[in-house]
Order: sequence, then C-alpha cells, then structure tokens
Amino acid sequence: MSKVKFFGDEQFPLEMHKVRIVQKLHLPPVEERLAAISAAGNNTFLLQNKDVFMDMLTDSGVNAMSDQQQAAMLIADDSYAGSATYTRLENKLQEIFGLPYFLPAHQGRACENILAQTLVTPGSIVPMNYHFTTTRAHITRNGGSVEELITAAGIEVTSTHPFKGNMDVAGLSALIARHGGGKIAFVRMEAGTNLIGGQPFSLENLAEVQRLCRQHGILLVLDASLLADNLYFIKEREAACQALSIREITRRMADLCDIIYFSARKLGHSRGGGILIRDEALFRKMRGLVPLFEGFLTYGGMSVREMEAITVGLEETMDEDMIGQGPQFIAYMVDELQKRGVPVITPAGGLGCHINAMEFLPHIPQRHYPSGALAVALYIAGGIRGMERGTLSEVRDADGNDTLAHMELLRLALPRRVFTLSQIKYAIDRICWLHQHRALIGGLEFTDEPEILRFFYGRLQPLSDWQQQLVSAFRKDFGDSL
Ligand code: F0G
Repeated sequence: MSKVKFFGDEQFPLEMHKVRIVQKLHLPPVEERLAAISAAGNNTFLLQNKDVFMDMLTDSGVNAMSDQQQAAMLIADDSYAGSATYTRLENKLQEIFGLPYFLPAHQGRACENILAQTLVTPGSIVPMNYHFTTTRAHITRNGGSVEELITAAGIEVTSTHPFKGNMDVAGLSALIARHGGGKIAFVRMEAGTNLIGGQPFSLENLAEVQRLCRQHGILLVLDASLLADNLYFIKEREAACQALSIREITRRMADLCDIIYFSARKLGHSRGGGILIRDEALFRKMRGLVPLFEGFLTYGGMSVREMEAITVGLEETMDEDMIGQGPQFIAYMVDELQKRGVPVITPAGGLGCHINAMEFLPHIPQRHYPSGALAVALYIAGGIRGMERGTLSEVRDADGNDTLAHMELLRLALPRRVFTLSQIKYAIDRICWLHQHRALIGGLEFTDEPEILRFFYGRLQPLSDWQQQLVSAFRKDFGDSL
C-alpha cells in the first residue's frame, strides 16, 4: 500500500481493502464518559465497550478478518479428534515456518505456561530483548528470572534507530560468561517488542543471538505474536533483506529458532495460539501438558472456526499490502502528533501509536501512574480507550515498593484494517486538545490492587478533582459537541 503517491502535497496511507461489514459506534457525551470511567475504577480494562467510541486498547483478537477468513470458517471440521481443520493449520504452519512439530494452545499465554513449565527451573534465567507481562509472570511463577537485554537505543524514546527491539548481543555474551550456559533456560526474542513501542529487531540481530546460543547449547525461542509488523519493518528497513519476499524473510527467521510460539489473537488475525518445535524429544515433553491444560491435541482449546481463520490469516500475513496497513497508519498518526508537538515514541513502530506520558505529564511522579492517568484523561476527552503501559503494568518489589517502569507509555493500538483515516484524525484532534490542557491532569492511586497482573482488574481513584475540571474545560471549548 505504500506504492501510491499523491498529486497534492499531503501524502497519506491508502487502504488496499474495502469494508464490507460495519459495526455501529456510540460516542457518549463527556459527562457520561466521566461517569463510565469512574464506574470502571479508572481502569480502561474495566470499561464497557458500549461506552467506547474508538477501542484502541489492543489489537488482540480484534483485527479485522478478511472475506476469505470468514469463508473458511464455514468449512470447519468439528470433530473432537483428527479434525481436517487442524491438519490444514498444521500444514500451513509447517509450510511457512518449516519447523516439524506443532502444539495448539488456546492463546499466547497458554504457550508461555507450557514453555515455562517445561523449561524453567528454580534459579534459572531467561534472557530476552524485552519482557512481556504474561511471559514474565509465567517464568517467575516457575522460579526463574528474566534478564532484559535491550540495547541502550531501545529505551531512548525519540530516536531514528530502525531496530530498537534488537538484543544487546555483547550483554548476552557477558551474561552467559557470568552464569554459564547451563543456568539459562532459553533465550527469548520478542518480535515487535510490545512494551517499548512495538519496535522491531533485525534479522542480523537474530542471527547474532542465534550464533551465541548455538555456541553455548542454549535454546532460542521466538515470540512471534507481533511477527507481522516485525516482518514488514525488516523488509522496509534492513538493506540486506530488501530483495527478499516476506515469505523468504519469515523462513530465514524461523531457520534460526528452536521454538516459535505465538498468540493467534495477533498473528493470523483470529484467536488461539500455538508452539512450533524443532526437537522431537522437547515436543514430546511439552505435548503432555496440552491435553491437561488446553484440550485434545487437534484443537488445544481453540474453536475449529478460529483455526480455519488462522490458516488463511497466516497465508495473508505473507502479503506485504496486508501487513503494511498497520505500520503505515501508525506512522501517519505518529508523524501528525509529532508535528503538533505531542511527545510520541519514534520511530513509529508496530502495534500502535505510543504516547510518552513521562513527557506529556512531567508534573505527575511515576508513583502516581502518569500513563494510567493519561489513559483515563483521553477516554474522558474523546471516548478513546487506550492501554497503560508503564509503572501500573509493573509488579511491586520484595519491599512492596512500586518498580518504576523504563518508560511511561499510553499505547493506542491500531487493530489492523479496523479504523478509517478520519477516525485516526479524530483521535489526533482529541489528543492535541488534551495536550493543550495537560496541566489539568492529575495522578491516580489504587483502591483495590490485585497481586498478580494488577493492571488488568485493579481499581484506582483520582488524587484530586482533576477529572471534573477536564470535563468543564471540554464543555467550554467544544460547546455541545459530543
Ligand atoms: N506475547 C506478546 C508479544 C503479546 O503481545 C501477547 C499479548 C502475548 C504474548 C500473550 O498472548 O494474549 O494471546 O495470551 N498481548 C496482548 C496485548 C494481551 O494487548 O498486547 P495472549
């Protein structure tokens, strides 16, 4: 879709698809938005979708499906064991990735559970370019620890570095020298690093990591949940890969890995997950956990309809037009916000547009959750639901203190092929308004704080009446507008 240029001065992304099914949206007035977010304990996860105009919480399970995916769902084979639907999925995965063994699971974190239960032992270490919330929770639950080895460039908020998701290879080498390969359960590379702005790693970086792993007999595991974005960026930004097709890049990545797992809520635009394994003995070890926690081996907790959609979705992921839509819309949003002085993560990554709450709200200390406060403020300002990715998504240390996140981000996910450009322009407009009124925004504190993954269902309250002040400012500036 990047190939179309415009005669006029403005260049913008052009959709290479048309919309054939729509869902009506509702934008409640600002006073009702304040009531809804208060009822939701100032946690956007707890909002009712009927109260949300633009749902930018996540791309998980909410990307638009294609007509071909919908059609494939009608021919699903509903047998408990030995379903033809499963065979089609397994064949497609083997064709694209080339790893011989596949285990189905109900979603990405279920794969993480199986991997951690099989490979993580008390005291073992899992180095990774960056952690993801559920991944780390499973590793620590099994007695292991996570070592983040992102390069210094990776956590620079504004940058032109094309591969901020790269692993620090020298750091990995030093870690192995310090602890010995035997202590390392596996090395995990996350494609499209979720928590630091959807930033990709390069194929070259993956190859360097693999060289070290091979030297020391350590397993290399790829989290391919956000692979589609990473593939697009490798094709666009890595000089050595420009002549390769998406399919060829995928295979080169897969050839370097011992295990590949994915959330099919992201990869393949459906719902479900799975693990691809190179080694038969390891496959046999993990296999026992599938019937125990997921379901029989030919569905693993997934519905057959979703499996058919994944099979088609994986094939469609090999199409550059398809995987380019997300990154190009995100780049448009990031560029427009940057032009207007709103602090955003650059370069634009995958998954969504990430606003730098630390700079947006410098007056709110991290212990008062600036990115959580910004998420609440944007919902009040525009009925837009984003996701906090900062200190609120962290865990407390042994003394009960908040671990301050490297970055305070408001993630505005762009589920692929869901929003139109005018909706993106609306979001930009409301974010800019909020930026002008940022001094009004205040902090949050927990009223109910769960011990595990607290950001999902914890409840908070504002530290002052800043939310009412924001509503008054909105009414003053927008009159009777929704
Ligand atoms: N790995 C990555 C990189 C992810 O982004 C996710 C989910 C998972 C694993 C877990 O997969 O949800 O299917 O169990 N990310 C979602 C998000 C929740 O909103 O970013 P899951």
